[in-house]
Parts: sequence; structure tokens; C-alpha cells
Amino acid sequence: MPVKKKAPKKPSSGPTSRKPTPFVARPAIHPGSLLSVTSLSLEEVRNILKLADQLERESPARRNQHLFKRRISLLFYESSTRTRTSFELAAKALGADTTLVSDKSSSIEKGESLKDTGLTLRALGAECIILRSPYSGAPYLLAETTGLPILNAGDGMHEHPSQALLDLRTILSRLGKPSNVGSNTLKGVTITICGDIFHSRVARSNALLLSRLGACVILCGPTPLLPEAAAQIAPEDATGRIEIERDFSRALQRSQVVMMLRIQAERLAGLALDLEEYKARYQANAERIAQYAPKAVIMHPGPMIRGLEITSEVADGPQSVIEEQVHNGVAIRMALIARALSTSKEKKSSR
Ligand code: NCD
Repeated sequence: MPVKKKAPKKPSSGPTSRKPTPFVARPAIHPGSLLSVTSLSLEEVRNILKLADQLERESPARRNQHLFKRRISLLFYESSTRTRTSFELAAKALGADTTLVSDKSSSIEKGESLKDTGLTLRALGAECIILRSPYSGAPYLLAETTGLPILNAGDGMHEHPSQALLDLRTILSRLGKPSNVGSNTLKGVTITICGDIFHSRVARSNALLLSRLGACVILCGPTPLLPEAAAQIAPEDATGRIEIERDFSRALQRSQVVMMLRIQAERLAGLALDLEEYKARYQANAERIAQYAPKAVIMHPGPMIRGLEITSEVADGPQSVIEEQVHNGVAIRMALIARALSTSKEKKSSR
């Protein structure tokens, strides 16, 4: 008959022997992360623009050496064409190996959490994760749980920092301004952002960044897509300002740059909009642009709904820089990825 071994005596858990639970610090946010434009100092913005210029000028063979065989994961919980492709091309141009995990074809579909997905990617050797998520703030959670540099490729209705940086690069080059930016670089420049401001992370990141460079940012749209409170988002160190103007023609008359936005049907949550009325008041069409902003630079982050917020004539017209924006995405994202992997953890944490 087998003799049951006595279980080893557990250490007494009496009050005298209880050790204090060790404090487990959560990993700090890696300083190579970019989660919001507000965490970037103007010096960092300058460095990113400078690095983008430098990397773009290098030969493909030289560029390929920067991050040779380093591992970068793209984690996309939302659809994307230009952001995903340009991040991937940027990483590959620097020599890195990339993997793409999307919610449609991974264990995310089986209910795996963001935290577990992030830890899995880290265990597989990912050194940086580029995240797009429908949830505002998701990149902060991923940064805290993995300790890796996280690049926010758009989180819900919160921010889209790499888009704001590529838009800035486009604006500077079109207005003939130096990339060596400071708090007055865009003094005297008026930029209208028109459309579905409420749901737009692009609008938020742009307004937050451009107003710190001295620009006057006019937000334009109907009340359901642009609450009055939006004028209050200007950061403390804004040297420009953020205004609301409901009349698109008036906003156009004052603007050197006009950024049109898509109505984000996937985030409207039951909000009913009269699209014919919307077009009548806010569409960027040839007549309106010719009459009120014949020289303005016309931008759109994409995807565009042609015939709704913008007509083909304007989108493909001589004032449009929409393709240039897409093109600038690769250079900016190369700089962000290089920065993510070259910033040491010991440096001061900056979100
Ligand atoms: C935007 C986005 O996904 O936030 N597009 C982009 O990344 N270029 C805007 C949009 O979806 O309308």
C-alpha cells in the first residue's frame, strides 16, 4: 500500500513571519513611445522632422542598415490602408522585420485581450509595437503592460500623432517654412479643419500640435459633429489659438490651409445627419473653393468619400496635396520607428 508522503510543512503564516508583499512596479512607458502629440516637446518635433529629412535622403542600401533584422509588430484592431502600409514600408525601409496582426485573422477574434496579445508579441521578440485600436487610451495600456516602445497609429476618438506630424511636414513644405520649427513658425497662418471633428483623432492631434506652433486653427462643422467645447482643447503652451466657425465660406476666406475630414459613419452611434444639408453647407466643391479659397492648400487624411465632404474636382485639383500627405507618411514613420528603437529606456520617460 503506497504510503502517503507527508506534505512539507508550509512556513508559518503567523503575523510575525509574514513578509511584506514586494512592490511590483509596472513598467514605465518607454520613452521611444509616441502616444500623443502633447508629450512631444518642440525640440522633439524638430528632431523627428530632421530625422525624416535625413532618412528620406539616404540611399535604400544605407537606410536598410539602421534597424537591420530588428523586430517590429503592427497590431491593427481597425481597418487601415495608408497608415498601416506606410508604417510597414517605413519599418522595412530601415531593414526591420515586420509582422502584422489584425483582429480579423488572429486570436483577437477568439477574445484574446490586448494585454495578452502584447505580451505574446513581446515573447516572440517584438521590440516595438505599432497599435491601431478603436479604444481611446489603448496604447497607454499596451505601453504599461509590455514596457516596449509603442507607436499610436490611431486610438478611437483620441489621437493620431503620426498623422499630425506628416500633415505638419506637408504644411511646412507647401508654405515654404523651415522644418526647424519653433513656437512662432506658423504665426499668421490660418488652418481650417472641416467636417466630423467630434469623432476625429486626426483633428484633435492636428489642433493640439499646430496651435503650439503659432497657427490659428479654425474648427468648422455643424453642432452634432463639433460641440462648442472643442474650442477649449488648446494646450497650455499654445502660441496660436483654436476657434469654432460654423460658416464654412467665412472659414475658407481666412485660410491658407484647409483640411477636410470624412464623416466617421462607424462612430456616429445612431446620430442622424441630413447628408444633403451637410453637403450644401460643408462640402469642399469647385465653386466654393474657387470663390472663397482659390489659393488655399487642400488636405485630407483619407479615406475620402468623394461626393460627400469633397468632390473629385477638388480632391484631384491643383490645390490638393492629398497624395503628398500620403507620401510624407513614410518619411515621418521611418523617423518615428528609428526614434522608438534608438531611445534608451534610461532616458526620461516621455509619452
Ligand atoms: C483617419 C483615421 O483612421 O483616423 N485616416 C488615416 O489614418 N489616414 C481618418 C478616417 O478614418 O477618416
